[in-house]
Amino acid sequence: MHRPVLLNESIEGLNIQRGEYYIDATAGEGGHLWAMLQKGANVLALDRDENQIKKLINMFKEDKNVTFEIGNFASIEQISLKCGFKSVSGILFDLGLSNEQLQKGGIGLSYKKLDEPLDMRLDKTSEITAKKLINSLNEEQLYKLFAKNSEELYSLQIARAIVLERKRREIKTVGSLVKIIKNVVTDSPNGAIARIFQALRVEVNSEYQNLESALKGALLLVRSGGRIVIISFHSLEDRIVKRFIKNNHLKQLKKKVIKFGRDHFTFERSAKLRVIII
Ligand SMILES: C[S@@+](CC[C@H](N)C(=O)[O-])C[C@H]1O[C@@H](n2cnc3c(N)ncnc32)[C@H](O)[C@@H]1O
Repeated sequence: MHRPVLLNESIEGLNIQRGEYYIDATAGEGGHLWAMLQKGANVLALDRDENQIKKLINMFKEDKNVTFEIGNFASIEQISLKCGFKSVSGILFDLGLSNEQLQKGGIGLSYKKLDEPLDMRLDKTSEITAKKLINSLNEEQLYKLFAKNSEELYSLQIARAIVLERKRREIKTVGSLVKIIKNVVTDSPNGAIARIFQALRVEVNSEYQNLESALKGALLLVRSGGRIVIISFHSLEDRIVKRFIKNNHLKQLKKKVIKFGRDHFTFERSAKLRVIII
């Protein structure tokens, strides 16, 4: 069992009471789920990625207190009601990707896997891939996509270079996109590469829209006094969470955002945890 990000802090934030009902909206590799079950919670474990859920079903087959569901947390309310979770004491959103998806996904989610195809779909039934976006959007559309989803400073120059390159050949792999970005951002390009990949992943998987719908649904599902715990990985995600808290006049248990990092995974450096009390 891998140890997920901010494990103790998020479990503490959920304030788990034995026998009560909770949702792990991003079950992933089951680290948080395992800890929730250890505390005696009844858990609905949800993930959009079918592979993750299949592995979890096998891993937790002895456990009677967990219900598994493949689905998008954008529909958390409908999914939960369908599974008999009508009012819950807490919901956990551990946003982003799991290590397994990054390392072994084979769909171009990590910019270090140069030979992988530019796919990035967590849900294989969706039609939009990163390759499709990169090869079909015009310069302005690409620029807007990068700027909106990652606030990368070189968005315009990178969009321009992509459109130039694809006149010569279709851009199909992680490596070919990385090369284009490196030609534009010659000095320390890693940040720009990470942000452009983030922007594409966010678009392909509608991450910001999903999060907005999920938070609205969560608000209807969590009982008074219950908790919504959110771990986010970049400022644009956190902005959505902050706006949700402000617009709904919600109370935060920890006003101070926790910054956290493990030195071997750079993407974890900016993880932030927010605990909301309903
Ligand atoms: C950081 S991982 C979660 C790790 C997990 N907490 C653990 O302990 O292993 C994020 C997970 O969220 C899932 N995910 C991302 N977007 C989702 C969505 N819209 N609906 C449901 N699951 C989603 C991903 O497939 C991934 O498995």
